[in-house]
Amino acid sequence: MRIYVTREIPRTGLDLLSAHSVGVYDGRTSMIKAFMKEAIADADALICLLSDRIDAEVLDAAPKLKIIANYAVGYDNIDVAEATRRGIVVANTPDVLTDATAELAWALLFAAARRIPEAHKLVREGRFNGWEPQLLLGQDIRGKTLGVVGAGRIGARFAMGARGFDMKVLYYNRSRNMELEAQTGATKVDISYLMHEADFISIHLPLNRDTKHLIDVHQLVRMKPSAVLINTARGAIVNESDLITVLKAGKIAAVGLDVYEWEPDISEELLKMENVVTLPHIGSATYQARNAMAELCAYAILKVFAGEIPSNIVNREVWLNRR
Ligand code: DGY
Repeated sequence: MRIYVTREIPRTGLDLLSAHSVGVYDGRTSMIKAFMKEAIADADALICLLSDRIDAEVLDAAPKLKIIANYAVGYDNIDVAEATRRGIVVANTPDVLTDATAELAWALLFAAARRIPEAHKLVREGRFNGWEPQLLLGQDIRGKTLGVVGAGRIGARFAMGARGFDMKVLYYNRSRNMELEAQTGATKVDISYLMHEADFISIHLPLNRDTKHLIDVHQLVRMKPSAVLINTARGAIVNESDLITVLKAGKIAAVGLDVYEWEPDISEELLKMENVVTLPHIGSATYQARNAMAELCAYAILKVFAGEIPSNIVNREVWLNRR
C-alpha cells in the first residue's frame, strides 16, 4: 500500500508503517495544493497536518484514498462530509494530546496574567534596575472564577487544574459534563454569562459553523476590564478584528493566544500589544504527545488496511455504510 505524509512526523509512527511504501514531504512549510495533488495521486492513505486543507479538489486527485489520518485532534481542515461521501475514513489524534494542550493553556494563562513575556524581555534588554513596588503588576489567580468555553476532553482536563487554585469554575458546553461538575463543582452556564462573570476565560471548542466567531465584539465587551482571554483551540472561534478593537479600547486586561484566525498570519496590531502573549500553535508540542500522535495516525491506517475500524475514526458513518 502507498502512504503519503505531508511533513516529517516522529519516527515512532513512520516505523509502524515500514511494511508499506511511505512517501514523506521534506519541505519546511505546508505543501502547496498543486504539489500535494501530484504527490497523493496513487496514495491509499494520507497523513496530513492541520494546516493542510483537504477539500474536494484534493480528494479528486487521490482516487485510491481509503483513509486520511489528521496529525491533530481538530479536523476543521478536512471536508469530512466530502470524504464520507467518497467512502474515505477520516481519523484524528484524540486523548494523547489532552494533557499537553491543557497544560499549555495554563502556561498561557499564567504568562498573560503575570506578564511573564514582558518581564523576560525587560531583563534580557538590561532594563532590570532592582526591585520596584509597581513593576509589572498582574492579576491574582487563586480564588478567582475560571470560564471554560467547551468542556470536551481538553477543556475538562484544563478545568481540573482549577482545583489547585481554589477557583470557581463556570463552563459553556452543548451538554452537561457531570464528571467535571462532580470533580470541580463546575456550573454549566450560557456564553454571555460566562464572559461577564469569569476572570479567566479559556477556549476549548472545535471550529465549525456553530463556533466560528462565537467570541465576537458582543461577547468580548461583556468581559471584566481585569479579565484574561486564552485561546489554544482554533483562531477563528474568536473574531480577531473584534478582539483587536476591544484590546485597543483597553476593555480587557490581557490575552494569551496559541492560534490565530488567519494562521500562520497574525494581525500586526496583536504583535505590537504588550498585553497579548503570542505562541506559534504549540498546544500539542511535547515529545510524548507528538510521538503518540504519530503512532495513532499509523495505527488508524493499519486498521483500515486490515479491514478494521480505527478507534479514532471521526466519520463512523462511512464504516456503517460500508457494511
Ligand atoms: C490539534 O491537534 O488540533 C491542536 O490544535 C494541536 O495543538
